[in-house]
Amino acid sequence: MREILAHRTGEEMALNDAYLNPQLGRIVRTLGLDRTWVAGEGAHLIDSEGNRYLDLLSGYGVFAIGRNHPEAIAAVRDTMAANTANLPQLGVTLLSGVLAEQLLARAPGSVAAMVPVNSGTEAVEAAIKIARASTGRSRILYAEHAFHGLTLGSLSLNGDAIFREGFGPLVPGCEAVPFGDADALERALARGDVAARGDVAARGEVAAFVVEPVQGKGVNLPPDGYLAAAQRLCRDAGALFVCDEVQTGIGRTGRFLALEHWGLEPDLICLSKALSGGLVPVGAVLVSRAAFDGVFDGMERAVRHGSTFGGNDLAAAAALATLRVLDTEGLVARAERLGALLLELTTPLVERYEVVSDVRGLGLMWAIEFGPPPEGGARRSIWNAAERAQPGIFSQLIVGPLFHDHRILCQVAGHRMNVVKALPALVVEEQEIRRFAAALEEVVARAERIPRAFLRFGVGMAGRALTARK
Ligand SMILES: Cc1ncc(COP(=O)(O)O)c(C=O)c1O
Repeated sequence: MREILAHRTGEEMALNDAYLNPQLGRIVRTLGLDRTWVAGEGAHLIDSEGNRYLDLLSGYGVFAIGRNHPEAIAAVRDTMAANTANLPQLGVTLLSGVLAEQLLARAPGSVAAMVPVNSGTEAVEAAIKIARASTGRSRILYAEHAFHGLTLGSLSLNGDAIFREGFGPLVPGCEAVPFGDADALERALARGDVAARGDVAARGEVAAFVVEPVQGKGVNLPPDGYLAAAQRLCRDAGALFVCDEVQTGIGRTGRFLALEHWGLEPDLICLSKALSGGLVPVGAVLVSRAAFDGVFDGMERAVRHGSTFGGNDLAAAAALATLRVLDTEGLVARAERLGALLLELTTPLVERYEVVSDVRGLGLMWAIEFGPPPEGGARRSIWNAAERAQPGIFSQLIVGPLFHDHRILCQVAGHRMNVVKALPALVVEEQEIRRFAAALEEVVARAERIPRAFLRFGVGMAGRALTARK
């Protein structure tokens, strides 16, 4: 590895274009983001010229304890040095058991067992299967604008056509309800009572409602009382209530699990992303005893769901170190404090700038939304023309200068939306949060003047996918 890193650094883009994803390469070059990244440290990425960039993407949220945290690295190294009897398969291991014990101790009493997996989408796939098998029902409800991953089952719960187009037919029996609308959920749950049983297309009773407590795409916060009402409605209808905490979990929102904000007690909780400090792919589904026993209900059925690498020692070791770091460094409380500071510093932009329509967040999951300038002026015409050419293009006027002028990496929060999102590492320094808020204001003030060049930029970009994934 030393040899490769020493002698081939700088070839990343050529290798990507030849063998990986040249369209992604085009996006990165078009936006001028094609740095040679050589290191990551805490909340920062470092390029080959030694420049430090504040990383507000955190690898789509995996680096909550910061990039390359020494304790997580040491845990992986120690486990390798111990030559553990990893993955005996017909046998059980210590580390994933300790991880399950520690996760369940931090979770609500409604869950009692853990199904180990390797990624967020695998966690959601497992949740869908567990819900169906344990209830004997087939319909799965999900919220509009949801993102639960890109394998076929999770994709069937995806609210965004751009991800779904061309991959159908998707899993039958999956149906969207508006996020935040408990009445719509109640109606969708009730429909099953009158529909014919046994038709898996869209009829029959509901096995589960799967929901992100805060939606990652767009950072949509739930209205007051919504999630508690959803849980109650699910219970009344005999459907399982599933919280996808792949993005919101592990301290991100200022609680270990976001569901703590509302005192929820789900039947299933999906975890992944930050759980292993970003070092090793990892995931877990925390499951109620009843649902678990409804699936794994006999020796013959002991392995009816699972995955070869699920519960591997390196992932468990990195996850255990991550939990310890969260505690010893007080990162959950830190996320709450710095998230409140970020909101305090950025909320006034709504009043100060016509193009800022909203600022929102929970803990260190934050977003700013842009809207058109008032009717009548030239700026409005330019905005309209550019947005017609490429919806969501205005947000590129924010993300680009933040990167080029301020060395801050952040993302557009979803396709065709003017929402810029930040998921900083929870170890981010307060002064970096202040620097981001000041840089953002400078960039917004400049972008609000909407130069004519923007129109050319927007038209030039038309048709290109410029948006980070979720
Ligand atoms: C809420 C949520 N669920 C599931 C996933 C899928 O996770 P993965 O990319 O690890 O498959 C994501 C990824 O962004 C997510 O945000």
